[in-house]
Amino acid sequence: MKDLIDLNDYSRNQIETIFDRTEELKANPYQNRLSNKTLAMIFAKPSTRTRVSFETGMTQLGGHAQYLGPNDLQLNRGETIADTAHVLSRFVNIIMARLFKHQDALDLARHAKIPVINGLTDFLHPCQALADLYTLKEHKGLDIEIAWVGGRGNVLNSLMQITNKFDIPIRFAGPKEREPEEDMLSRVKNTTIVGSAEEAVKGADAVFTDTWISMGEEKDAAQLFKTLKPYQVNAELMSKAPDAIFMHCLPAHRGQEVTNEVIDSAQSVVFDEAENRLHTQKAVICTLLNV
Ligand code: CP
Ligand code: NVA
Repeated sequence: MKDLIDLNDYSRNQIETIFDRTEELKANPYQNRLSNKTLAMIFAKPSTRTRVSFETGMTQLGGHAQYLGPNDLQLNRGETIADTAHVLSRFVNIIMARLFKHQDALDLARHAKIPVINGLTDFLHPCQALADLYTLKEHKGLDIEIAWVGGRGNVLNSLMQITNKFDIPIRFAGPKEREPEEDMLSRVKNTTIVGSAEEAVKGADAVFTDTWISMGEEKDAAQLFKTLKPYQVNAELMSKAPDAIFMHCLPAHRGQEVTNEVIDSAQSVVFDEAENRLHTQKAVICTLLNV
């Protein structure tokens, strides 16, 4: 595989191989595999975890990462994605990009001669899904059921794709207008829409949510808050799933999609989940660079 843009391009077997490498790198994080190699990190949106985990991962493997923020590239003054891809391919060894339009990530990968990793688009967040599944595997194994309470989005889309490959069912509860797109639903077999948050979490091994307002959706905030309020993950809801872990890609909007009581509880594994971004992404980089 040249790139990681969409997990649908990966087989279950390829994902398992990435997890084997993750395990190895997590146990032995400092390895000089990427000496003289450079990762260009394009960020059109803000980031804490993605930026710091990719940059740290490159350092731990003996390589280097360049942060290219929204005001750093000529891309933002109209240079094309194709020209940017051609030029970066002459300088660096691998690119990670966090962009708005998913098509831009596809175009970047198509024009780049080097591997391109999707660090989140409006449609998908494959790096998050890899870390999420790895975290589930560590805490619960993979013979599990997942509840997603809240709204659709890039994190849910990638989670649906990856869990579908592992036959892990997802029960989604959320307002009608924030259900996963029909197109996404029809492409996976594992996700069912249920009538209430309680129904979703009952018997679940993991309860997930994400921010109600994704980056770029701020103008719709007031309306989204109103419709999503009944789908807050709070202590009462989690009491219906006493054996479940709570997961969230972060950043959390405490008091909105999740309460402090839940995210700070013993059921919450959100910081293990965040840490696993580092380990799984290092495995992706080594896989794509064939080292
Ligand atoms: N979960 C995640 O991608 O976090 P950042 O936006 O901080 O990178
Ligand atoms: N759905 C969120 C994820 C942030 C990591 C967003 O796109 O803002």
